[in-house]
Amino acid sequence: MQKLAIQGGIPLRGEVRISGAKNAALPIMCAGLLTAETLRLSNLPDLHDVGTMRKLLQQMGVAAGYASNEITFNGGNVANWEAPYDMVKTMRAAILVLGPLVARFGEARVSLPGGCAIGSRPVDLHIKGLQAMGADIRIEHGYIHAKARRLKGARIFFDIVSVTGTENLMMAGALADGVTVLENAAREPEVVDLANCLRAMGAKISGDGTDTVTITGVEKLNGATHRIMPDRIESGTFLVAAAATGGSITLRETRADILETVLEKLTEAGAQIKVAGDTIHLEMKGRPKAVNVRTAPHPAFPTDMQAQFMALNCIAAGSAMVVETIFENRFMHVQELRRLGAQIDVEGNTSVVRGVEHLEGATVMATDLRASACLVIAGLVAQGETVIDRIYHLDRGYEHIEAKLEKLGANIRRLK
Ligand code: UD1
Repeated sequence: MQKLAIQGGIPLRGEVRISGAKNAALPIMCAGLLTAETLRLSNLPDLHDVGTMRKLLQQMGVAAGYASNEITFNGGNVANWEAPYDMVKTMRAAILVLGPLVARFGEARVSLPGGCAIGSRPVDLHIKGLQAMGADIRIEHGYIHAKARRLKGARIFFDIVSVTGTENLMMAGALADGVTVLENAAREPEVVDLANCLRAMGAKISGDGTDTVTITGVEKLNGATHRIMPDRIESGTFLVAAAATGGSITLRETRADILETVLEKLTEAGAQIKVAGDTIHLEMKGRPKAVNVRTAPHPAFPTDMQAQFMALNCIAAGSAMVVETIFENRFMHVQELRRLGAQIDVEGNTSVVRGVEHLEGATVMATDLRASACLVIAGLVAQGETVIDRIYHLDRGYEHIEAKLEKLGANIRRLK
């Protein structure tokens, strides 16, 4: 298993290009199932999850190819409507094929995702939504088996805000008969990026980015060209790493408008931030101040940035409370941070972090994607060497992370 070794204590300095967003790329690739014509995507990040999604789509009969700097997907010969357990278990986002398959082919068999490290994460809202649209759904042998002659538009209320739930039903509604209204829908920028791509394919969608999304189904969607939006979590991760190390960095090809709460928290921590066009510059002088964080659906503070801010708080001046309201088990990085000398108490979904002057390098284990990013940040600030085990989690969601950090001056290497 691959590991990362980091010699900490070097402030990050320089410029880094932000990649396309994983959480926009995955649903948008699935939108390729909605049409027999070609979907051309640019700015698709080179990530393990993107590779897994491409393999899954290819197994279904989607032809994937390259054309200059675009990756093309053609769903003209889809013949297999199944997402097997091996793929769904490694990448929950595979559930995103469910809506498009039922909408276009009237049938899908998708493995239930099962448990994952950060919580139970059921898919009941995806299923209930499709049932409300007229799909007949059975759970058989661990698989969701859905059938429908043609989905019908429906009014669907989400009891809990779900990002992939909103995306699945938005794609299903795009080819349904009549109008679908999603209430208490997710407002994440990645939902808007998917809606932009679907509109380019001929879908009729309005209200994306608000909590009520209206989709008027059409008979057929066409091919389109779409550029994947920048990754706001990768952007936030680099900014926090720079702030924690007392560095000065500039992100290129990103967007400040999708990072508002994160930039506010970094400013509260004492960073100076300047935004110009698609660049964000951050400079941190001295020790960061501890900042309270409470995760909630967009536009509030993202759960995918909670672990990184926990790392920042570990070495900040003062104490901070970190409250996780989205996932029930997303504090697994706490035990590992304690191995580096962090002082953190956890009670239910709340952590209290008391900042210490220094962390000390040690061997730690990555438990999930964003927890891994948190350990990288902690390793960058810790004195001496930190070795992070099980970094395959990191490769699922960060494009060439050690090359990018190395360019910013970090002393980091992959142990194979
Ligand atoms: C997406 C993101 C993930 C992010 C999360 C929350 C992708 C590919 N992944 O995950 O990076 O951490 O949003 O911002 O975009 N829930 C149910 N029933 C359902 C669906 C969800 O109870 O049918 C619950 C979940 O267990 C969780 C909450 O709703 O507690 C939010 O989950 P959801 O927004 O669905 O997360 P994902 O879409 O899986």
